[in-house]
Amino acid sequence: MSNSDTSSQSTWRPATRQLHAGLERTAYGETSEPVFLTSGFVYDSAEQAAQTFTGEVTHYQYSRFGNPTVAALERRLADLEGAEACVATSTGMGAVSSALLSHVKAGDRVVASSALFGSCHWIVANLLPRYGVTTVFVDGTNMDEWAEALSEPTAAVLLESPSNPMLEILDIAAISALAHKAGAIVVVDNVFASPVYQKPLELGADVVVYSCTKHIDGQGRVLGGAVLGRAQWITETLQPFTRNTGNAFRPSMRGSCSKDLKPSPCVWTP
Ligand SMILES: Cc1ncc(COP(=O)(O)O)c(C=O)c1O
Repeated sequence: MSNSDTSSQSTWRPATRQLHAGLERTAYGETSEPVFLTSGFVYDSAEQAAQTFTGEVTHYQYSRFGNPTVAALERRLADLEGAEACVATSTGMGAVSSALLSHVKAGDRVVASSALFGSCHWIVANLLPRYGVTTVFVDGTNMDEWAEALSEPTAAVLLESPSNPMLEILDIAAISALAHKAGAIVVVDNVFASPVYQKPLELGADVVVYSCTKHIDGQGRVLGGAVLGRAQWITETLQPFTRNTGNAFRPSMRGSCSKDLKPSPCVWTP
Protein backbone atom coordinates (compact mmCIF):
# COMPACT_ATOMS: atom_id res chain seq x y z
CA MET A 1 0.00 0.00 0.00
CA SER A 2 1.27 3.45 -0.81
CA ASN A 3 1.81 5.75 2.14
CA SER A 4 0.76 8.76 0.19
CA ASP A 5 -2.71 7.16 0.09
CA THR A 6 -4.08 8.59 3.34
CA SER A 7 -7.73 7.65 2.70
CA SER A 8 -7.57 4.46 4.76
CA GLN A 9 -5.48 5.87 7.62
CA SER A 10 -8.40 7.16 9.66
CA THR A 11 -9.45 3.58 10.40
CA TRP A 12 -5.96 2.46 11.45
CA ARG A 13 -5.16 1.86 15.11
CA PRO A 14 -2.65 4.22 16.79
CA ALA A 15 0.25 1.74 16.66
CA THR A 16 -0.23 1.18 12.93
CA ARG A 17 -0.56 4.90 12.30
CA GLN A 18 2.73 5.46 14.11
CA LEU A 19 4.47 3.08 11.72
CA HIS A 20 3.11 4.79 8.63
CA ALA A 21 2.04 8.36 9.42
CA GLY A 22 4.05 11.02 7.64
CA LEU A 23 6.01 8.64 5.44
CA GLU A 24 6.33 9.84 1.86
CA ARG A 25 8.09 7.18 -0.22
CA THR A 26 10.32 8.20 -3.08
CA ALA A 27 10.07 6.59 -6.52
CA TYR A 28 12.46 3.85 -5.29
CA GLY A 29 9.87 2.38 -2.90
CA GLU A 30 12.25 2.13 0.06
CA THR A 31 10.88 0.41 3.18
CA SER A 32 12.46 2.76 5.75
CA GLU A 33 12.29 6.55 5.91
CA PRO A 34 14.80 8.11 3.50
CA VAL A 35 17.29 10.51 5.10
CA PHE A 36 17.74 13.63 2.96
CA LEU A 37 21.17 14.92 3.98
CA THR A 38 20.96 18.07 1.93
CA SER A 39 20.93 21.75 2.69
CA GLY A 40 19.46 22.84 -0.64
CA PHE A 41 17.27 21.48 -3.47
CA VAL A 42 17.42 21.79 -7.25
CA TYR A 43 14.78 23.13 -9.64
CA ASP A 44 13.65 22.11 -13.12
CA SER A 45 13.92 25.69 -14.34
CA ALA A 46 14.73 29.24 -13.28
CA GLU A 47 10.97 29.93 -13.43
CA GLN A 48 10.27 27.13 -10.94
CA ALA A 49 12.97 28.52 -8.64
CA ALA A 50 11.49 32.02 -8.86
CA GLN A 51 7.98 30.71 -8.17
CA THR A 52 9.28 28.70 -5.22
CA PHE A 53 10.81 31.82 -3.67
CA THR A 54 7.60 33.82 -4.13
CA GLY A 55 5.55 30.95 -2.70
CA GLU A 56 3.53 30.37 -5.90
CA VAL A 57 4.67 26.73 -6.04
CA THR A 58 5.39 24.36 -3.18
CA HIS A 59 8.91 23.02 -3.45
CA TYR A 60 11.63 22.38 -0.88
CA GLN A 61 14.24 25.14 -1.13
CA TYR A 62 16.52 25.12 1.90
CA SER A 63 16.59 22.76 4.88
CA ARG A 64 16.40 25.59 7.40
CA PHE A 65 12.89 26.17 5.99
CA GLY A 66 11.94 22.55 5.43
CA ASN A 67 13.37 19.12 4.66
CA PRO A 68 11.51 15.94 3.64
CA THR A 69 13.03 13.85 6.45
CA VAL A 70 12.13 16.45 9.06
CA ALA A 71 8.67 16.85 7.49
CA ALA A 72 8.06 13.11 7.95
CA LEU A 73 8.88 13.45 11.66
CA GLU A 74 6.62 16.51 11.94
CA ARG A 75 3.68 14.75 10.29
CA ARG A 76 4.13 11.67 12.46
CA LEU A 77 4.31 13.71 15.68
CA ALA A 78 1.22 15.70 14.64
CA ASP A 79 -0.62 12.43 14.03
CA LEU A 80 0.42 11.07 17.42
CA GLU A 81 -0.62 14.27 19.21
CA GLY A 82 -3.83 14.80 17.25
CA ALA A 83 -2.54 18.28 16.30
CA GLU A 84 -3.17 20.13 13.05
CA ALA A 85 0.50 21.02 12.60
CA CYS A 86 3.99 20.52 14.01
CA VAL A 87 7.36 22.22 13.68
CA ALA A 88 10.44 20.23 14.73
CA THR A 89 13.11 22.38 16.40
CA SER A 90 16.80 22.04 17.24
CA THR A 91 16.15 21.12 20.91
CA GLY A 92 13.37 21.10 23.47
CA MET A 93 14.47 24.52 24.68
CA GLY A 94 14.34 25.68 21.07
CA ALA A 95 10.70 24.57 21.10
CA VAL A 96 9.84 26.34 24.38
CA SER A 97 11.68 29.58 23.57
CA SER A 98 10.27 29.83 20.03
CA ALA A 99 6.72 29.09 21.16
CA LEU A 100 6.89 32.00 23.62
CA LEU A 101 9.09 34.48 21.75
CA SER A 102 7.17 34.10 18.49
CA HIS A 103 3.90 34.95 20.26
CA VAL A 104 4.69 37.77 22.70
CA LYS A 105 5.85 41.35 22.26
CA ALA A 106 7.02 44.15 24.55
CA GLY A 107 4.23 45.21 26.89
CA ASP A 108 2.66 41.73 27.01
CA ARG A 109 2.17 39.63 30.12
CA VAL A 110 3.06 35.94 30.61
CA VAL A 111 1.87 33.78 33.52
CA ALA A 112 3.69 30.54 34.32
CA SER A 113 3.62 27.80 36.90
CA SER A 114 6.70 28.02 39.11
CA ALA A 115 7.49 24.29 38.91
CA LEU A 116 9.11 24.45 35.48
CA PHE A 117 12.16 22.69 34.06
CA GLY A 118 15.18 24.91 34.94
CA SER A 119 15.81 26.43 31.50
CA CYS A 120 12.08 27.11 30.98
CA HIS A 121 12.05 28.94 34.32
CA TRP A 122 15.08 30.96 33.19
CA ILE A 123 13.32 32.06 30.00
CA VAL A 124 10.29 33.33 31.92
CA ALA A 125 12.22 34.80 34.86
CA ASN A 126 15.20 36.31 33.01
CA LEU A 127 14.83 36.44 29.23
CA LEU A 128 11.27 37.67 28.62
CA PRO A 129 11.52 40.63 31.05
CA ARG A 130 14.64 41.78 29.16
CA TYR A 131 12.40 42.30 26.11
CA GLY A 132 9.71 44.22 27.98
CA VAL A 133 7.42 41.29 28.82
CA THR A 134 5.95 41.22 32.34
CA THR A 135 6.11 37.75 33.84
CA VAL A 136 4.23 36.31 36.81
CA PHE A 137 4.84 32.95 38.50
CA VAL A 138 2.10 31.08 40.37
CA ASP A 139 1.97 27.93 42.43
CA GLY A 140 0.54 25.80 39.63
CA THR A 141 -1.46 23.57 41.96
CA ASN A 142 -3.28 26.57 43.49
CA MET A 143 -6.27 27.53 41.31
CA ASP A 144 -6.84 30.72 43.35
CA GLU A 145 -3.39 31.93 42.32
CA TRP A 146 -4.16 31.17 38.66
CA ALA A 147 -7.49 33.03 38.91
CA GLU A 148 -5.80 36.05 40.48
CA ALA A 149 -2.93 36.10 37.98
CA LEU A 150 -5.29 35.64 35.03
CA SER A 151 -7.69 38.37 36.08
CA GLU A 152 -5.71 40.74 33.81
CA PRO A 153 -5.22 40.54 30.03
CA THR A 154 -2.43 38.04 29.35
CA ALA A 155 -0.71 36.92 26.15
CA ALA A 156 0.53 33.46 27.12
CA VAL A 157 0.50 30.85 29.86
CA LEU A 158 3.32 28.32 30.22
CA LEU A 159 2.92 25.24 32.37
CA GLU A 160 4.41 21.81 32.78
CA SER A 161 2.40 18.82 34.03
CA PRO A 162 3.67 16.50 35.36
CA SER A 163 6.58 18.80 36.15
CA ASN A 164 10.21 17.72 35.92
CA PRO A 165 11.49 16.73 38.45
CA MET A 166 8.85 17.35 41.18
CA LEU A 167 5.96 15.61 39.35
CA GLU A 168 3.46 18.36 40.14
CA ILE A 169 0.14 17.61 38.43
CA LEU A 170 -1.84 20.64 37.19
CA ASP A 171 -5.44 20.97 36.03
CA ILE A 172 -4.77 21.80 32.39
CA ALA A 173 -8.47 22.10 31.50
CA ALA A 174 -9.32 24.53 34.32
CA ILE A 175 -6.18 26.63 33.75
CA SER A 176 -6.89 26.76 29.99
CA ALA A 177 -10.43 28.01 30.62
CA LEU A 178 -9.12 30.85 32.84
CA ALA A 179 -6.30 31.63 30.41
CA HIS A 180 -8.63 31.91 27.43
CA LYS A 181 -10.84 34.36 29.31
CA ALA A 182 -7.72 36.50 29.83
CA GLY A 183 -6.92 36.29 26.10
CA ALA A 184 -3.89 34.01 26.56
CA ILE A 185 -2.72 31.01 24.59
CA VAL A 186 -1.79 28.02 26.76
CA VAL A 187 1.57 26.38 26.10
CA VAL A 188 2.04 23.00 27.78
CA ASP A 189 5.44 21.38 28.19
CA ASN A 190 4.31 17.76 27.90
CA VAL A 191 7.77 16.21 27.98
CA PHE A 192 7.23 14.13 31.08
CA ALA A 193 3.85 12.60 30.17
CA SER A 194 4.58 12.12 26.44
CA PRO A 195 1.80 12.29 23.83
CA VAL A 196 0.95 8.66 24.56
CA TYR A 197 -0.27 9.35 28.10
CA GLN A 198 -1.53 12.94 27.89
CA LYS A 199 -2.88 15.04 25.04
CA PRO A 200 -3.05 18.66 26.30
CA LEU A 201 -4.82 19.92 23.16
CA GLU A 202 -7.80 17.71 24.06
CA LEU A 203 -7.82 19.37 27.50
CA GLY A 204 -8.03 22.87 26.03
CA ALA A 205 -4.37 23.85 25.59
CA ASP A 206 -3.34 25.63 22.38
CA VAL A 207 0.29 24.63 22.00
CA VAL A 208 2.30 21.58 23.12
CA VAL A 209 6.09 21.46 23.30
CA TYR A 210 8.50 18.52 23.54
CA SER A 211 12.12 17.72 24.02
CA CYS A 212 12.86 14.78 21.72
CA THR A 213 15.67 13.60 23.99
CA LYS A 214 13.10 12.00 26.28
CA HIS A 215 10.36 9.59 25.25
CA ILE A 216 10.24 10.65 21.59
CA ASP A 217 13.72 9.27 20.92
CA GLY A 218 13.77 7.01 23.94
CA GLN A 219 17.33 5.84 23.43
CA GLY A 220 19.50 8.84 24.28
CA ARG A 221 20.75 9.47 20.74
CA VAL A 222 18.91 12.58 19.61
CA LEU A 223 18.81 16.31 20.35
CA GLY A 224 15.59 17.85 19.12
CA GLY A 225 12.30 19.42 19.98
CA ALA A 226 8.81 19.95 18.64
CA VAL A 227 6.01 22.51 18.82
CA LEU A 228 2.48 21.39 17.97
CA GLY A 229 -0.75 23.32 17.61
CA ARG A 230 -3.29 24.77 15.22
CA ALA A 231 -2.16 25.13 11.60
CA GLN A 232 -2.87 28.87 11.45
CA TRP A 233 -0.81 29.68 14.56
CA ILE A 234 2.02 27.40 13.43
CA THR A 235 2.24 28.88 9.93
CA GLU A 236 1.55 32.53 10.74
CA THR A 237 3.17 32.97 14.16
CA LEU A 238 5.68 30.20 14.93
CA GLN A 239 7.14 29.33 11.54
CA PRO A 240 8.28 32.82 10.50
CA PHE A 241 10.13 32.95 13.83
CA THR A 242 11.77 29.50 13.68
CA ARG A 243 12.69 29.82 10.00
CA ASN A 244 14.24 33.27 10.32
CA THR A 245 16.03 32.66 13.61
CA GLY A 246 17.41 29.29 12.48
CA ASN A 247 15.74 27.01 14.98
CA ALA A 248 15.76 23.98 12.69
CA PHE A 249 15.79 20.23 13.32
CA ARG A 250 18.59 18.50 11.41
CA PRO A 251 17.66 15.67 9.06
CA SER A 252 20.33 13.52 10.72
CA MET A 253 22.01 13.74 14.08
CA ARG A 254 25.17 12.17 12.71
CA GLY A 255 28.21 14.47 12.68
CA SER A 256 30.31 14.52 9.54
CA CYS A 257 33.56 16.04 10.70
CA SER A 258 35.40 12.85 11.53
CA LYS A 259 37.44 10.78 9.13
CA ASP A 260 35.64 7.77 10.61
CA LEU A 261 32.25 9.52 10.45
CA LYS A 262 31.69 9.07 14.17
CA PRO A 263 28.40 10.27 15.60
CA SER A 264 28.12 13.74 17.16
CA PRO A 265 29.75 15.28 19.08
CA CYS A 266 32.36 15.78 16.41
CA VAL A 267 35.44 14.73 18.36
CA TRP A 268 37.96 12.00 17.67
CA THR A 269 41.44 11.01 18.79
CA PRO A 270 43.92 10.69 15.94
C1 LIG B 1 10.33 19.18 31.00
C2 LIG B 1 11.44 19.58 30.08
N1 LIG B 1 11.26 20.63 29.26
C3 LIG B 1 12.24 21.03 28.42
C4 LIG B 1 13.46 20.40 28.39
C5 LIG B 1 14.51 20.92 27.49
O1 LIG B 1 14.77 20.05 26.43
P1 LIG B 1 16.18 20.01 25.67
O2 LIG B 1 17.20 19.53 26.63
O3 LIG B 1 15.95 19.07 24.52
O4 LIG B 1 16.47 21.40 25.19
C6 LIG B 1 13.68 19.29 29.21
C7 LIG B 1 14.98 18.59 29.18
O5 LIG B 1 15.36 17.89 30.10
C8 LIG B 1 12.64 18.87 30.09
O6 LIG B 1 12.80 17.83 30.93
